[in-house]
Amino acid sequence: MQIKNDLLLRVIKGEAVERTPVWLMRQAGRILPEYRAVRASVSGFVELAQTPELAAEVTIQPVDLLGVDAAIIFSDILVVPEAMGLPYEMVEKRGPWFPKTIGSAADLKNIRVADPKTHLHYVLEAIQITKKGLNGRVPLIGFAGAPWTIFAYMVEGSGSKTFSRARAMLYQNPALAHQLLDLITKTTIKYLKAQVEAGVNLVQIFDSWAGILPPYHYKEFSLPYIEKICEAVTEVPVTVFAKGAYFSLKDFLHTQCDTVGLDWNMDIGEVRRIFKEEKTLQGNLDPAVLYAPDETLVAKTREMMVQFSGSRHIANLGHGVYPDTSPEKVRLFIQTVKEFTGQK
Ligand code: CP3
Repeated sequence: MQIKNDLLLRVIKGEAVERTPVWLMRQAGRILPEYRAVRASVSGFVELAQTPELAAEVTIQPVDLLGVDAAIIFSDILVVPEAMGLPYEMVEKRGPWFPKTIGSAADLKNIRVADPKTHLHYVLEAIQITKKGLNGRVPLIGFAGAPWTIFAYMVEGSGSKTFSRARAMLYQNPALAHQLLDLITKTTIKYLKAQVEAGVNLVQIFDSWAGILPPYHYKEFSLPYIEKICEAVTEVPVTVFAKGAYFSLKDFLHTQCDTVGLDWNMDIGEVRRIFKEEKTLQGNLDPAVLYAPDETLVAKTREMMVQFSGSRHIANLGHGVYPDTSPEKVRLFIQTVKEFTGQK
């Protein structure tokens, strides 16, 4: 189906666009009262994510209520470990928790390369319903966690400041780490291809825990697996968002991804010198700017737009929008991007 607002897809191809497209990481869920109302009608996050009609509804909410230039399918990166045999729970106010984790070779026997049509059918169904609901208004973004970030949860069993269990395995049993990363990568490739078949127009890989690795481990345990995914998923454009991996930006220049997501610690000037016009850049306003007074919010957003001017750019935050952000501030951010004309 022809997409009516295809700014995002055109800027990814390097085409000239009338204005910079804008969306927000974690725009589905988290901030909208309309999301919370849907969420309150079910037992919790997991049930919502597994009910395709409702997942589609909250996916489309930000398009209707915020005016973003793309929808991102409502799901979570943790559906992949679950499909592989490690179910998760979302503990209120504490985040994800896995009753079973991977700590030894014996634990690997209990997990599998998942078949998306069997184990993740509810996400694929949600994508199909969302596509009908969007009716070609904006592109739909599919996603998955990067293998390293998924590995971190499967070994650690929950979120963590240090992910020390996961990082210990890289030193104590690197062969086991590679075996697990390989199973995750195989699942992720199948899963992203299934999302494409179900209708997503592009995909994003979230390496949220990239920044906790030293560069030598990032190059050994994360980058090669992201590269495998980028090489395999050729049907749609791929965005890689590796939070905190500024030490690896040069490597992404040579990766077969179309767009590189930037967090707010990254210096736009330096990033532009590295990528020139080779890749589209996505980001990177500090999410905390959305707590600032309106004038500061507008000024900081315009400052970011000026710094990216002349680049292939998708405006976004440098990480997911924080849960207690006011939707009004989000609307002001979006409006400021849309009205930006290039003048300082
Ligand atoms: O972008 C979107 O809005 C689409 C949906 C989406 C969710 N999670 C829904 C969600 C996406 C893209 C994610 C990705 C995700 N999940 C990441 C990578 C991006 C990032 O922010 O770094 C990570 C690390 C996770 C793991 C995860 N899921 C955590 C740590 C938590 C708990 C705290 C939190 O972030 O909200 C979740 C739960 C989760 N995933 C919620 C939502 C809307 C909140 C659940 C609720 O309603 O209680």
